[in-house]
Amino acid sequence: MNILILGSGGREHALAWKLAQSNKVDRVFIGPGNAGTIDAGTNLKLDPMNFPEVKKATLENKIDIVIVGPEAPLVGGIHDFFLNDSELKDIPVVGPDSSAARLEGSKDFAKDFLTRHKIPTAAYKSFDRSSLPEVTGFLRTLNPPYVIKADGLAAGKGVLIIDDINEAEKEVEAILNGKFGTAGQKVVIEQFLSGIELSVFIITDGVSYKLLPVAKDYKRVGEGDTGLNTGGMGAVSPVSFADSAFMEKVKNRIIEPTMKGLSEDGMVYKGFIFFGLINVNGDPYVIEYNARLGDPESEVIIPRVKSDLFDLIDGVAKGDLAGRNIEIDGRFVTTVMLVSGGYPGDYEKGKSIQGLDLIKNSVLFHSGTKNAGGKVVTSGGRVLAVTSWGNTKEEALEISYRNAGLIDFEGISFRTDIGFDL
Ligand code: AMP
Ligand code: GLY
Repeated sequence: MNILILGSGGREHALAWKLAQSNKVDRVFIGPGNAGTIDAGTNLKLDPMNFPEVKKATLENKIDIVIVGPEAPLVGGIHDFFLNDSELKDIPVVGPDSSAARLEGSKDFAKDFLTRHKIPTAAYKSFDRSSLPEVTGFLRTLNPPYVIKADGLAAGKGVLIIDDINEAEKEVEAILNGKFGTAGQKVVIEQFLSGIELSVFIITDGVSYKLLPVAKDYKRVGEGDTGLNTGGMGAVSPVSFADSAFMEKVKNRIIEPTMKGLSEDGMVYKGFIFFGLINVNGDPYVIEYNARLGDPESEVIIPRVKSDLFDLIDGVAKGDLAGRNIEIDGRFVTTVMLVSGGYPGDYEKGKSIQGLDLIKNSVLFHSGTKNAGGKVVTSGGRVLAVTSWGNTKEEALEISYRNAGLIDFEGISFRTDIGFDL
């Protein structure tokens, strides 16, 4: 079996690392990959948004299954592209078609889906330019802070949480006037939920599903979850408060109604579903759906899958996931993200990375790295995820931090408090 993983981050490196360990997998290709994915397979020069380029690479390398890492190609219809192409239609794509990917691609669609299928989520209303005059009235029915979301994909920047009602109104208007481009043709305003967030993942073939390990990521750049939002500064798995009683609620109130809702609405979802949840006094609510795995969550949940991940991927491809097995490693896994100076604002790239060969007892998943003249250099804001195992969360973190201290590049920075709130 030859597998093509689309994407270039830590999530894709973790997928490639795990699949390369399967004796059922012949070759792993990553398109375009990074300086780390070369250790797990073969990088292919391609842009995942350029579907003809993906087609060429798929046929040339005799790919049997394509796994789509990031959301943009899914929302953009890569699965549909395969289904509609006579040479590609029998090559399974792990990742939903564009219709089902609207769960991530449109917040208005997701909120409508959640509400219709009676899945717990914050109260909300959607607005477009024609309903702009009604915004103030709706804001007055809510208590601050106000949660304002651009409808479409906005690279993690489309959510604003604002205390002042006048400022909230102005922001809604700015978004509808194009602040986030076409992502802001509609705006969702919702009730603020107070609680602790967690990330729950399943893999599904459209009929049955398997629960993957639960994780918590740390999104803010600063210690104690302060400062600007990032793609994620670290993650831990398992999550202490996601005990069996809580997970039973997640299954009964969220996962199963979502599966039933997809089926009732005629959507055949093949791939990963990422439930961004919040625990409000012991009850789970959906903050968002994503049509893919999380990053950096993948860097802790994939290492906790003890059984062969290919077995699940193959179950999605063949539509017989119900008969496949998943075995989870009971240990704690943590990851600490090493980022470029200035991230998530402006940062420089091309900094040479030292210490990669000094790492002991951790795995480095590369996010933003590339090879330049035989050297590994930084090429993104999030650079490396340092993943470690331990019998306790503290033990795993101690190993991640010890190894994080051995890596150096100009401007390196990382949070020293991953897992602090659990
Ligand atoms: P989203 O892109 O929808 O996940 O939103 C980004 C972040 O905004 C989430 O991870 C939450 O921290 C926060 N957020 C979104 N919606 C709400 C809400 N209704 N109540 C409280 N916080 C929220
Ligand atoms: N870590 C959050 C995400 O992948 O969207």
